[in-house]
Amino acid sequence: MCDRRYVLVFVLVSAASFVSDCTAKFAPDFIRPCNNTEPACLIKATQDAIPQFTKGLPDLGVPSLDPFVIDELPIQLPGIKVTFYNGKATGLRKCQVLNVEAYLEKNIFNLDVRCNITIKGKYTAVGRLLLFPINGEGDSKIKIVNSIIKLHINTKYFKDADGRDHFGIKNYKYTFDYGERIIYTINNLFKGNPELSNTVLQFLNENWRIVTEEFGQPVVDYALNVTVTTAKKFFDAVPYDELLYVPIPKY
Ligand SMILES: *[C@@H]1O[C@H](CO)[C@@H](O)[C@H](O)[C@H]1NC(C)=O
Ligand SMILES: *[C@@H]1O[C@H](CO)[C@@H](O)[C@H](O)[C@H]1NC(C)=O
Ligand SMILES: *[C@@H]1O[C@H](CO)[C@@H](O)[C@H](O)[C@H]1NC(C)=O
Repeated sequence: MCDRRYVLVFVLVSAASFVSDCTAKFAPDFIRPCNNTEPACLIKATQDAIPQFTKGLPDLGVPSLDPFVIDELPIQLPGIKVTFYNGKATGLRKCQVLNVEAYLEKNIFNLDVRCNITIKGKYTAVGRLLLFPINGEGDSKIKIVNSIIKLHINTKYFKDADGRDHFGIKNYKYTFDYGERIIYTINNLFKGNPELSNTVLQFLNENWRIVTEEFGQPVVDYALNVTVTTAKKFFDAVPYDELLYVPIPKY
């Protein structure tokens, strides 16, 4: 039998060490802070963090990015209104990090990634498409192969209620190269006319680059907004000195 006194001491000691750990650390274990801002280290640290980070960190209030949910996304195009709903985007966990640059003094953070992204969901489309009146409704899937996203973030620094420094995101812009190929799978574009639906779908796929330039922007805007909003939540939760072992510039 185990002596009660020792059990009590053990509990107190572990409680004490738990308290001190707990005040010290918010960052999950998969975060390995760099000791400098060399791209080589930042790229590796970012690449290593992505698979876990994209699953979401419920303890820190950070939602999942793979999958991420698209409840409803209306897209108004010239002559046609498309609405996505009950959608899900997957693939971000496998994004390949091409470059990361951080200029701490200048408040600049750049991230370049290559990703395959699949977006699946329901849609409605009302209006005109290629001269045909359209009134479609059904399932859709968009597969984006090897797209390259270059995200340019203007950062800021701020102190939380406990006086600890944090990274913040002031604003961002991005460029998006649609990559090698986008594959649309959309059923029932023209209600009750599967032949016309298939012909037009084939046309969309043969002209995917032009189609996507019109149509892709709102989808990508939405996805980037979700990603940056998620990153903000993470930076709000985890102090600067747990993310990067480089002294913070004066601000
Ligand atoms: C930072 O330096 C510490 C101490 O030298 C080392 O243990 C750690 O691996 C370094 N971190 C990275 C990401 O290289
Ligand atoms: C995307 O998919 C293509 C084709 O399946 C594959 O060759 C490529 O390596 C993938 N890219 C990434 C970034 O995972
Ligand atoms: C980004 O999303 C937030 C809510 O998630 C919304 O309030 C905001 O208007 C969106 N910004 C843009 C530029 O779409």
